Amino acid sequence: MILSIPQGARILATGSAVPDLCINNQHLSQIVETSDDWIVNRTGIKERRILADKEKSIIDLASSASMNALQKASMKPLDIDLIILATSSPNDLFGSAGQLQASIGAHKAIAFDLTAACSGFVLAIVTATQFIQNGSYNNILVVGADVLSKWINWTDRSTCILFGDAAGAAIVQSCSQEDNGILGFQLNTDGKKAYQLSIPYEQNNYKTINNKTLKIVQGQFKHIVMNGKEVYKFAVSHVPVSILQCLNSLNILPKDIHWLLLHQANERILHAVANRLSISPNKIISNLSKYGNTSAASIPLALDEALNSQKIANNDIIVISGFGAGLTWGTVVIKWKCK
Ligand code: UT7
Repeated sequence: MILSIPQGARILATGSAVPDLCINNQHLSQIVETSDDWIVNRTGIKERRILADKEKSIIDLASSASMNALQKASMKPLDIDLIILATSSPNDLFGSAGQLQASIGAHKAIAFDLTAACSGFVLAIVTATQFIQNGSYNNILVVGADVLSKWINWTDRSTCILFGDAAGAAIVQSCSQEDNGILGFQLNTDGKKAYQLSIPYEQNNYKTINNKTLKIVQGQFKHIVMNGKEVYKFAVSHVPVSILQCLNSLNILPKDIHWLLLHQANERILHAVANRLSISPNKIISNLSKYGNTSAASIPLALDEALNSQKIANNDIIVISGFGAGLTWGTVVIKWKCK
């Protein structure tokens, strides 16, 4: 979809935060039957960060990432009109964005959660862009944060080696059409395949309450379940199509992009997608060896690191794609505009 509305939108600054505790593959091989060799060869992951402090929650990570982005943008929390927190691991089922708003003191901002797992950041950037383009808000804080360590079955070697905890933030700001940095997007959902990657809610048996006139069913969320092979096949076949559709709509050729920034799920997926699009491997942005799959945080965390290391230059075209539970997948194409 090409965005052709007079009001431009751009990412002004990014920030990120990870917990202190670092768990490497050696550590994990003492918990489940696995090895550093297997994990590195099949995923590219060497270590991941885990939020283990009982006093800390996803809000601490999201707040640090947000303050980091605000500082780089030379903005104050009170300048923010809207906060979108992309997370699938909130500390409150009613939403955690309000706590983030209070924690950073962004008292003028509306705040809501957006649940789309590993595609969450892409969907949140696209959502923020709509609010800017229709003139509703000027300064939007978009945060991708997840603490999937809370939802992992730590005895399941097929999933526990993959995930890590983190938060990443981006300030999306209105700008002139000439400075527009969010060029276009392409989004998809295939709900028929939702069962391939899920944290299912499981019902208990009927419970009769006190006077026995009310019979209700309650339950709880279980651990992450994933059919890794199927999700892998889905990612390498569908993500390139989404990228091509988005680039075609913008009249940009894959060879003309500067950076490919995919959800950091598996190094083999990053290379397979680049290969299908004939994009040179040295254009791939990758940091998953250090953090694993951090779900909604993975894209803003990698973007922030790439910007901090001055990899990305003014006017560089960055293709960003998220994919995961839902199943959801999608692309947003950005032209980086230095402040
Ligand atoms: O963030 C959302 C998106 N998520 C993804 O994109 C994940 C996509 N999937 C993947 O990245 C890969 O499918 C995995 C990394 C999860 C698994 O890699 P794979 O190459 O698809 O392995 P597999 O599941 O086919 O398992 C191959 C073998 C099996 O043994 P047998 O049946 O061949 O004897 C597994 O039991 O590897 C075994 N295995 C392990 N061995 C050592 C599975 N997990 C492990 C492990 N350590 N941790």
